[in-house]
Amino acid sequence: MVLWSEEYLIGIREIDKQHKKFVELAKPLFEADEELSREEIRELLYALREYMKFHFEDEEKYMKKVSFPELDEHILQHKRLVDELALVVQTPAKLPVIQSKIKVIVKKFVKHIRDEDHKIKLFIESSEYATQTQ
Ligand SMILES: [Fe+2]
Repeated sequence: MVLWSEEYLIGIREIDKQHKKFVELAKPLFEADEELSREEIRELLYALREYMKFHFEDEEKYMKKVSFPELDEHILQHKRLVDELALVVQTPAKLPVIQSKIKVIVKKFVKHIRDEDHKIKLFIESSEYATQTQ
């Protein structure tokens, strides 16, 4: 299970809030056991996928608003994660298989926050951004 940690905060309040919510939405999937019906598991997966899409779209809007320079590469990384999660949602599998795949995705999501989303905050603080908004 991948848990939320304060270490993942990048310092942009709304984005941080959404990152935390995504990690927390994955929790019931990790805690699920065989008592959960196929339908219930599917609903949890759908909710996770929908939230991932919502969050990435929102983050992309924000990056556009501040004219973040590495936008295309960042959007591509979002797309890869969405596609990976969509594949899990679409492929029927036993719960432990789903759980291990979701674990990999959440880990990648967290790595993305720390390596890439962090750059958005650095950019906002940089002189490059200050010059643009003058
Ligand atoms: Fe991102």
